Amino acid sequence: MKSAKLICLVILLAFLASTLSAPVASSSQDRIEQRVNALLARMTLEEKLGQLQQLDGEANGNFRPEHLQMARQGLLGSTLNVRGAQKTNQLQRIAVTESRLKIPLIFGFDVIHGYRTIFPIPLGEAASWDPAAAERAAGIAAAEARAAGVHWTFAPMVDIARDPRWGRITEGSGEDPYLGSLMARARVRGFQGSDYSAQDKIVACAKHWVAYGAAEAGRDYNTTDVSERTLREVYFPPFKAAVDAGVGTFMSAFNDLNGVPSSANPFTLTEVLRGEWKFDGFVVSDYTSVEELMKHGLATNGADAAREALSAGVDMEMVSRLYNKHAGELLKDRQLSQQTIDEAVRRILRVKFRLGLFDKPYADEALEPAAIFNSANVAAARDIAARSIVLLKNERQVLPLDKTVRSIALIGPLADSRQDMLGSWNGDGKVEDAVTLLQGIKSKLPQVRINYAKGCEVNSGKTDGFEEALRAARESDVTIIAVGESADMSGEAASRSSLDLPGRQLELVKAVQATGKPIVVVLMNGRPLTINWLAENSPAILETWFGGSQAGNAIADVLFADVNPGGKLPVTFPRAVGQIPLYYNHKNTGRPPDAKNKYTSKYLDVDWRPLFPFGYGLSYTQFKITNLQLSAQRIPLNGKLTVTVEVENTGKRAGDEVVQLYIRDVAASVTRPVKELKGFQRVTLQPGEKKRVEFVLTAEQLGIWNRQMRFTVEPGEFKVMVGANSEDLLETALEVEKR
Ligand code: NOJ
Repeated sequence: MKSAKLICLVILLAFLASTLSAPVASSSQDRIEQRVNALLARMTLEEKLGQLQQLDGEANGNFRPEHLQMARQGLLGSTLNVRGAQKTNQLQRIAVTESRLKIPLIFGFDVIHGYRTIFPIPLGEAASWDPAAAERAAGIAAAEARAAGVHWTFAPMVDIARDPRWGRITEGSGEDPYLGSLMARARVRGFQGSDYSAQDKIVACAKHWVAYGAAEAGRDYNTTDVSERTLREVYFPPFKAAVDAGVGTFMSAFNDLNGVPSSANPFTLTEVLRGEWKFDGFVVSDYTSVEELMKHGLATNGADAAREALSAGVDMEMVSRLYNKHAGELLKDRQLSQQTIDEAVRRILRVKFRLGLFDKPYADEALEPAAIFNSANVAAARDIAARSIVLLKNERQVLPLDKTVRSIALIGPLADSRQDMLGSWNGDGKVEDAVTLLQGIKSKLPQVRINYAKGCEVNSGKTDGFEEALRAARESDVTIIAVGESADMSGEAASRSSLDLPGRQLELVKAVQATGKPIVVVLMNGRPLTINWLAENSPAILETWFGGSQAGNAIADVLFADVNPGGKLPVTFPRAVGQIPLYYNHKNTGRPPDAKNKYTSKYLDVDWRPLFPFGYGLSYTQFKITNLQLSAQRIPLNGKLTVTVEVENTGKRAGDEVVQLYIRDVAASVTRPVKELKGFQRVTLQPGEKKRVEFVLTAEQLGIWNRQMRFTVEPGEFKVMVGANSEDLLETALEVEKR
């Protein structure tokens, strides 16, 4: 009898397993939808509007007293900047135990390139051309953040930027939609994993939707005017990649886009995002961007602003409180439908359920200390910072430096500045955690005499430190000079009209170089700089961005060859601000530049070409890329092919090369860029080693948005190019046939 029962039970379980196993994911989503709808049915209008409200905490991570009261009444959906397991739990406890419906809060924070362990600025991380590294960094950031009670990051920032005057270029992956898309996908995966209810994951937010990086004249928050073609070809793709990777939320941007502010733009927020891309998460406004609709001149008053934003598709309002104030009256006046409000609430609740907050609303306070800034995370930060460094110049192999050197002059305002190592948006990073270059070299080479002299400030007119710096250089065998921008010169509201080294730094370099001692320039900056003099006259230049908590150790690793640099520029370095916007994937024009012909597209006073092109970067070893081959010279419209090259390390050290694949659609129904990145691989090769690198190129990757704005592959001739940067390329032809 017993065994018969057991058999029945086994059969029943097997049956259940077979019915449940395949659509587990969708059935759990169905359950979430049921729970969302059941909850929604019980909510009052005030409670619904409460879910749409996000408020800012205090700068130190505390909530405000008012939040307690609002959480108790169910009038608050989320906070930003409140962090720390204990603080978030305290506020959460009120929402979950004292409010009528016990809906948990979602705690958001700008975890941009690390929570407490700070990784390189995102532009630097993109220079690694290593999405796996970006995914790893985001994964660590997520684990630290979740342990500290944070559920939601306002990252990845996936804005394409073609204008380095714009300070926020530091937060993105540079100028290219393909590299940007891969980095977007990697970061979403890193933050969210496959299920962001996991206690070491957080929900991500693709921002700033959209074209925020196209700010006129590079001035932050400025107007943008971008054709639908350029939106679809350049600005949309990293957002689409984030959606495809399952990103849970979006942030609507500050900018006015083609006459309609991004935070009230039904075309981008509803037609494209929800309609075309089927995004089912929620959209949060950027900070007070709903209220700013009045300043834009789109809304005449607060009610108008609330109506415009909510009905366009902005679900949660960050900081301003117009939804709460006006949605009730708008509903009464039939200017807003119940359905619009319900849909916004539904989307927010859906993400809260997906985060598992209803089942596990609290952070584990006991786990927090061990999860944060532990040695494994710190080691990863060092590794990733080193992978992000780009060697721009290395004449006569000045680099790497010899560890047996007797004395080093370390000069420059950034050589020992902890704060600057963290870059902008440094989460909960602590200045005291940051390792400077001075510390990094000291701990690598404790026996070497280091003559440190600041020389000057980053951005001041004073030169009274020069003498000491020159003395240090004269007394040392070799000089390292760390110059660039301070961290606060890039990031939000940090646009510049000049890209030169600020203050007297260039003079300092010139003076030090005049001592005749071997000199290495270490750049730290959040954007491309115009460094023509250095490029021409300094023997060695290392671009290190802002490397994060472990910057100094990582740079020292590269200077002394414990790591061979393999990063590549994710953005073009111009020669002059007047060339901007300058990017590799430009159109050919009817009169492409020709030095011998005046009436072609160029300048009278500056070369049309960049100082350093997109994709550029050297190594301590040398590579040769040869033997470009296609598996087929012709493919059908829906076909694909394999592109192969051989890459060989012809030098004497192991090193990494980033092999890059570009295409050009030679003639199409609309004009096409002269080059478009379509693939890349960072490969490691031992001295003398040769590898075949293979790319699969699908017809989809050859597709374009045609004149009717439909994505299609057009037959005709293509160029396929492979090389070590966007200029030094092997080239062959490919034909896409009509059939
Ligand atoms: C404004 C910034 O534009 C955005 O990127 C950030 O996430 C929010 N402030 C919240 O700090």
